[in-house]
Amino acid sequence: MPSRLAVLASGRGSNLQAIIDHFDSLARERTAKVVLVASNRADSPALIRAATASIDIAHFNSADDGSELLALLKSFRIDLVVLAGYLKRIQPKVIHEYAGRIINIHPALLPAFGGEGMYGARVHEAVIATGARESGVTVHLVDDEYDRGPIVAQWRVPVSPLDTSESLAARVLAVEHTVYPRVVEMVAILQQLESKRTD
Ligand code: GRF
Repeated sequence: MPSRLAVLASGRGSNLQAIIDHFDSLARERTAKVVLVASNRADSPALIRAATASIDIAHFNSADDGSELLALLKSFRIDLVVLAGYLKRIQPKVIHEYAGRIINIHPALLPAFGGEGMYGARVHEAVIATGARESGVTVHLVDDEYDRGPIVAQWRVPVSPLDTSESLAARVLAVEHTVYPRVVEMVAILQQLESKRTD
């Protein structure tokens, strides 16, 4: 049985699209399937992408103690929660219930250029401001600190002296689209093996 993925997104959803496309394009049997896309923003373009792909969508209140999101995840029997441009903190209640089963992607090489408020253009502006010669992509498990959970994959991306935050963001995003679906798949496979072992 493919793992049941929920993708949480607040914005444009290009990583969501890459994940959907990846699992659709597999020649072998699917290891995972996006069964729910949920957002804290009712007008998130990610919800439109999901609806176009005939995936169930939901809008939830992110200002409560996590009860609404948790009930949603449980009602869809979600195995793995994938954050793709989700800008709110995941409440401890949800992290506790889904420990080791929530992953996030960050557009820099954590632990550098991460933490509260470090998202979007701010990340790339900070990289350029420090004169760093490389940035990258980090996929990590989510715990109760912003961008601090165990790192499961990183990929380096060069920074050119001519880069603006927009050009760097575009180069990093293209790598995210390759890396994230494959890491999501790997985590789903490991999770399936682990749950067979403990059955
Ligand atoms: C990506 O850069 C991701 O690393 C970060 O938020 C952005 C989301 O972009 N967490 P998109 O909504 O997937 O296009």
